[in-house]
Order: sequence, then structure tokens, then C-alpha cells
Amino acid sequence: MSTSVLQERLQGKVAIITGGAQGIGEATVRLFSKHGAKVIIADIADDAGHKLAESLSQSATYIHCDVSKEQDVRAAVDLAMEKHGKLDVMFNNAGTGDGHRNSVAEYEMEQFERTMNVNVKGVMHGIKHAASVMIPNRKGCIISTGSVSGIMGGVTAYAYTASKHAIIGLTKNGAAELGKHGIRVNCVSPSLVATGLIMDYAGKGKDEVEAWGCSVGNLKGTILKAEDIAEAALYLASDESKYVSGHNLVVDGGQTVVNHDWGLYRP
Ligand SMILES: NC(=O)c1ccc[n+]([C@@H]2O[C@H](COP(=O)([O-])OP(=O)(O)OC[C@H]3O[C@@H](n4cnc5c(N)ncnc54)[C@H](O)[C@@H]3O)[C@@H](O)[C@H]2O)c1
Repeated sequence: MSTSVLQERLQGKVAIITGGAQGIGEATVRLFSKHGAKVIIADIADDAGHKLAESLSQSATYIHCDVSKEQDVRAAVDLAMEKHGKLDVMFNNAGTGDGHRNSVAEYEMEQFERTMNVNVKGVMHGIKHAASVMIPNRKGCIISTGSVSGIMGGVTAYAYTASKHAIIGLTKNGAAELGKHGIRVNCVSPSLVATGLIMDYAGKGKDEVEAWGCSVGNLKGTILKAEDIAEAALYLASDESKYVSGHNLVVDGGQTVVNHDWGLYRP
């Protein structure tokens, strides 16, 4: 295999990345571009999104897209079709936090609705509109960003936990229906990454969040970065995962499959 093939795992592919202006999405936009993809950055952070697109010159385009609004997601898919004639990869990555810290007895239902509108409806909009253009093409790849909060309870507040569990369900249903059209549907589930979302939630800076991640994490001696999640998304977007569908790629250093409270291997 030539070096250029190894270096450009998405050569000729067209991808939409929601929440692509910052954090995990930004890292994925940069990595997908580096691997030869044409990328549409779909976000509500217009300044950051435009700046990122400009820095990548020909390979990226920014569109304002609030994923909770179906017409915005449809417009992002339409842009991919108009500009590039196809959509190979839809990465439903945009997400919002749920800052509730008190008991469920005091839960503000508006917060629940806000979170579900972005994290669940946003992903559903992405799956729906990506499928509408991928089905006739008989191929495509849909990825969504879940979380360790989609696997276990007690990590984050109610709506966020529920929304990330829902993404795993949407992924399984998508894989079940769309497999016959040659479309793969997967999700990637990170544990703690020091992005704006987590720094805002925790009221802490990057170093503090990373130190927190190291102290609660199972895998020691390394720090989970946005770029590591981008690498997982790259694998799911590339032909190297051509028979992987319905999968939740958990990037958590083993955190969700161990319980150190029982003591046998306590670090
Ligand atoms: N950072 C973590 O520790 C962590 C862990 C697990 C899962 N996640 C998930 O990763 C994804 C990316 O988050 P991040 O950590 O990079 O945070 P981030 O805040 O750095 O990035 C999120 C991006 O999504 C955009 N966004 C928010 N609401 C939107 C909307 N309605 N429509 C379009 N874009 C919107 C923001 O403008 C921002 O650019 C989210 O789905 C989040 O739930 C993050």
C-alpha cells in the first residue's frame, strides 16, 4: 500500500460534522480534512465555525445549523448535495450539557426538553436526512456521539444521561433498517474530555478537568483528548470499518467495564 493511501483514509469522501466548530467536532473536522475529505461544518457557533473553515481553505465549508431544528439539518444535507453531489459520512456530534445538580424532585422540565431537543432530536434529524440521500446512493456511514453516560447512570444529570442512552437506541435502529441499503450506523462514546462543554459544566479550566479525568479514569498514564475521539470517528468513517455497524465504540480506557469499589485491582 502506498504512503498516500495510508495518509488519506477519506480521500474523495464528503462529510457533515455537526458541532464541528469546537471541541471534539473541531478535532474531527481537522482530521477528516487531513485525510482528504470535503467537510461541511454545521454548528451554531458562527465565528468559530467560519474561522475553522477559512483555516482549512478548500476542504471545509461552514453552515449555521441548529440541529434541534429539522429545517437546519435538511439545509446542511442539501448544501453537501449541491456543493459536492453526495454525502458519504454524517457525524451527528453536536450536543449540549445538562447543568442540573440537585435532586430529580427539583428538576426543571424545560431543561429536560432543551437537552433532548439537541441531543436526541438533533441526532434523529441527522439520521433521517442523511438516510434520505444515502439510500438512493446505496452506501453511506452515519456516526453519532454518545457518551459513557449512555451506558451507566450517576455520571451526569437526568436529561443528558437519558439523551445519550437514546443515541445508542437510535444507532441500533438505524443499523437495523439501513443495513439493507449498504449504510452503516454507529456511535462513539467518550468519557471525560476537557472541552468547552465540560469546562463550563464543571466550572474548571482545561488542566483541572484533565486532572479530574485522570483521577477518576481506569487507564492511567495518559489523558483522553478530543483528537482521540476524532481518531475513533475516522475509523468508523473510513472503509477500514466496512463491516462494522450498530456498534458503540466506547473510548473510555475501560472505565465502564470495571468497578474498582470492590477492591480487587484498586489502583
Ligand atoms: N467532552 C466530553 O467529556 C464528552 C464526553 C462524552 C460525550 N461528549 C459529547 O461530545 C459531543 C461534542 O461535545 P464537546 O465535548 O466537543 O463540546 P464542545 O462544547 O466543545 O462542542 C460542542 C459543539 O456543539 C455545538 N452545538 C451545541 N448546540 C448545538 C446545536 N443545537 N446545533 C448545532 N451545534 C450545536 C457547539 O456550538 C459546539 O461547537 C457532544 O455530543 C457531547 O455530548 C463529550
